[in-house]
Amino acid sequence: MALRNILTKEEPLLYKKCRPVTAFNERLHQLLDDMADTLKQANGVGLAAPQVGVLRRVVLVIETNVPEGESEYIIELINPEIIESSGVQNGAEGCLSVPGEYGLVERPMYVKVRAQDRNGEWFEVEGTGLTARCFCHELDHLDGVVFTSRCERMLTEEELQSGKFNS
Ligand code: NI
Repeated sequence: MALRNILTKEEPLLYKKCRPVTAFNERLHQLLDDMADTLKQANGVGLAAPQVGVLRRVVLVIETNVPEGESEYIIELINPEIIESSGVQNGAEGCLSVPGEYGLVERPMYVKVRAQDRNGEWFEVEGTGLTARCFCHELDHLDGVVFTSRCERMLTEEELQSGKFNS
């Protein structure tokens, strides 16, 4: 297990566009494994490589919409693209790079993503609700976009505690 340091919003690397992954090698696998450890340790639902200082198109998203009794699992996405989206949701969004702050962000309710796995195989995956929000949020990171720039407004402590903006 190896934890990587999560960069916070002052860090200029978070605002740069990431390059595609071209080598599906041991180094990529190590990055993915370290990111998974880091994500779990931080109790997040998603993490993008630039958040750990690597400017490559790699993200992890935890699928939390699982049937009762089944475990949540990590989806690894390399060079991901959103190929379909529909619906709209407006709710609270946060980021491990912006600890303790949440804002109202509008996102699609459903997205379909095309990506490569850790061995370079292309696949498609769908997400709804929080998972769709998470796909959009993490893919934004790959283009140097932090959610605060998409916020309608930030939420106050009172609004957060009321629970009415939780998705
Ligand atoms: Ni984030």
